[in-house]
Amino acid sequence: MSERLVVIGSQWGDEGKGKITDYFACRADMVVRYQGGNNAGHTVVFDGHKYALQSIPSGIFNPKTVNIMGNGMVINPVSVEAELKRLYEQGITDYQLYISDRAAMVMPWHADLDGAYEAMKAGKLIGTTKKGIGPAYTDKYSRVGLRMGDLLEPEYFAERLRGALEQKNIELRALGLKEYDFDEVYNQYMDIVSRIGHMICDTSDMVNKALESDKKVLFEGAQGMMLCIDHGTYPYVTSSTPSSASVPVGAGVAPKWIDNVIGVAKSYCTRVGEGPFPTELFDQRAHDIRERGHEYGTVTGRPRRVGWFDAVVARYTSRLAGINYWALMLFDVLSGLDKVCICTGYECDGKILETPPSTISRLAKCKPVLIEMEGWNEDVTGARSFDELPEAAKKYVRKIEEVTGVPVGIISVGPDRQQTIIIDEKLKNF
Ligand code: GDP
Ligand code: IMO
Ligand code: MG
Repeated sequence: MSERLVVIGSQWGDEGKGKITDYFACRADMVVRYQGGNNAGHTVVFDGHKYALQSIPSGIFNPKTVNIMGNGMVINPVSVEAELKRLYEQGITDYQLYISDRAAMVMPWHADLDGAYEAMKAGKLIGTTKKGIGPAYTDKYSRVGLRMGDLLEPEYFAERLRGALEQKNIELRALGLKEYDFDEVYNQYMDIVSRIGHMICDTSDMVNKALESDKKVLFEGAQGMMLCIDHGTYPYVTSSTPSSASVPVGAGVAPKWIDNVIGVAKSYCTRVGEGPFPTELFDQRAHDIRERGHEYGTVTGRPRRVGWFDAVVARYTSRLAGINYWALMLFDVLSGLDKVCICTGYECDGKILETPPSTISRLAKCKPVLIEMEGWNEDVTGARSFDELPEAAKKYVRKIEEVTGVPVGIISVGPDRQQTIIIDEKLKNF
């Protein structure tokens, strides 16, 4: 087993990346977030306590682990401070955290614009988290964004901020939104940097040094592959690439370091926000799964939509991201269903599709081809080995491996760190 692991979401987000990252972070020297921002909501549960993280990496609970917020993220420093304060109040006072000087900054007007753009799409909302993620990435690529490292050079920051505000205030005014005053924003950010400035540095250099000295480095993805700006259900996606493929750019390392990729997948599927979802269920079973799995958004509290495990999506995302193992999550939630189903193909205009179509108009027409299997009633939350699972549950896992062509390396049977079955011996050695 190499000393690197990449943990990514393989569906529509909220698969349990926080839990899996935390599980391995206990043994990792470094945990690196490489895309997304505080649109993520990663839940970690141990010793009877529950923690919710948004932009801070899930290795924060282990004082020996160096946590990195990489250059590919969009970082809202106000929200980072609020997150650190919440953690502090929960007793997390001893940690190591560094923020890339090259990471794009989410500014207050980005959230205002996110809300305004959504309001203009009446009837065709994306259902964003309204954290300003899309507008922040847009400014980054338009080359008018501010970066975390700018804060360390007050005069340079002032010049960039002035330039950004000249442009942004025109847009905000046109949309009838509040304009921002240079002095107010400047003073607020100089105040913030007086507290978090020591964390801002060249994190790519740190990650490369760790890799070169064979340290255990874990890369933590946010969102999920079907929310990918390139490969997801566009336009109902986020504005970054949650794949292992964006680790090199977003963490500032060479692609050769990316090898062991864990695709985190729920044992069924969920989606929060709008957009097509071929295996979605609308009956009592959706309600039962939602309640048992507490399927409500960590960031926004919205009820998550629920559907069957989608092997079309799983094959697609494993191919795109080079997934070596599935971490099959919330397995305990399936107990008590008479039948469980797996989608193996989409029927669309009289044809069977094996990969998702590019447009949502076609995807919306896709009907899932389902295989139906026996369910099981036993409570599996106490299982700690594959052998302890009921026969029907084992068959379900084996079927997922068969139809996706990827082995299941981990099964999660509850939210707690301990409720984890490591199946693949190699994963025990990380
Ligand atoms: P992430 O965004 O991928 O980190 O996932 P979230 O934290 O948003 O959502 C996953 C939810 O499922 C959280 O509430 C976790 O505590 C919970 N969870 C994770 N694994 C399991 C599991 O195996 N069983 C159950 N019942 N809950 C789990
Ligand atoms: P984690 O890391 C689930 C969804 C939003 C919306 C779309 C665009 O917890 O898995 P954005 O605010 O990013 O512009 O919203 O993407 N979305 C997520 N859904 N989990 C997430 O993160 C998400 N981050 C964004 O609901 O549909
Ligand atoms: Mg989440």
